[in-house]
Amino acid sequence: MTDSPALDVLLPLDRAGQRLEPRDDEADLLALFGPSPARLVRANMVATLDGAGTGADGVTASINGPADLRVFRALRAQAEVVLVGAGTARDEGYRALDVPVGLARARDRLGLPPRIELAIVTARGDLPDVLLDAERPPFLVTTADAPLDALRARVGADHVLAHGTDGRVDLAAALESLAALGLGRVLAEGGPGLLAQLVAQGLVDELCLTWSPLLVGGPAPRILGDGPWLDPARPLVPVHLLHADGVLLGRWRAR
Ligand SMILES: NC(=O)c1ccc[n+]([C@@H]2O[C@H](COP(=O)([O-])OP(=O)(O)OC[C@H]3O[C@@H](n4cnc5c(N)ncnc54)[C@H](OP(=O)(O)O)[C@@H]3O)[C@@H](O)[C@H]2O)c1
Repeated sequence: MTDSPALDVLLPLDRAGQRLEPRDDEADLLALFGPSPARLVRANMVATLDGAGTGADGVTASINGPADLRVFRALRAQAEVVLVGAGTARDEGYRALDVPVGLARARDRLGLPPRIELAIVTARGDLPDVLLDAERPPFLVTTADAPLDALRARVGADHVLAHGTDGRVDLAAALESLAALGLGRVLAEGGPGLLAQLVAQGLVDELCLTWSPLLVGGPAPRILGDGPWLDPARPLVPVHLLHADGVLLGRWRAR
């Protein structure tokens, strides 16, 4: 935690000026986020000030930093499952998720299981061997017309969830299915393609968004990708806003 910055509370106003120093168990930061209800879909994304969801490297490494990482880890500590689209799993090099030691104790106190599961939404199931053949494989959230036998052989039958057809996962049904497995506290980490669908279908309860003080231009995706307009626009209510070294880290609740 030595390279983690302190986070200053800007909102809510009655806590403005409080400073959340980094701690191994992140008790203060986790308390700010509050206990997660048994069913919660929380999205966590990072963007530049010009709205880019990646930098010129095509991934988030060039636009995030220690403050974002601190909140990112705390949010994972409160989740039962991290949900990502296969594009993000491939591009960002996702592997089985580890819990830092201090945060493992925090999970225990919160009554959460020691492991954080990874669930990947995919029509094709084309994911790296190192991910599929891992000792702890991810859940594959796919459709009835996917190559189910082959996928079950790779990750185990209990780790393949098939909802929807025609290459399009029924995301609401998939979230129900995860909840039935005791994975109702969902942290959706993108990418923009998946998040756009979750938001359009009214499936996201909370958005956590880090604004990095950078401008990158270019053809980067925004955090909701390039899907159709949300019309009417989806309103959100601010819950808190934190600051560290010019980075703003917000949390909003769907109205
Ligand atoms: N700014 C941020 O916070 C952030 C967060 C995450 C990722 N990113 C960046 O975003 C980029 C990746 O995002 P992306 O939007 O291209 O991809 P994505 O949303 O992560 O994944 C898209 C893929 O997910 C699967 N998928 C999504 N919805 C599906 C559905 N309803 N049914 C079946 N399959 C579905 C498909 O996988 P198959 O192709 O396997 O069938 C699809 O190709 C990367 O550059 C990454 O670095 C940024």
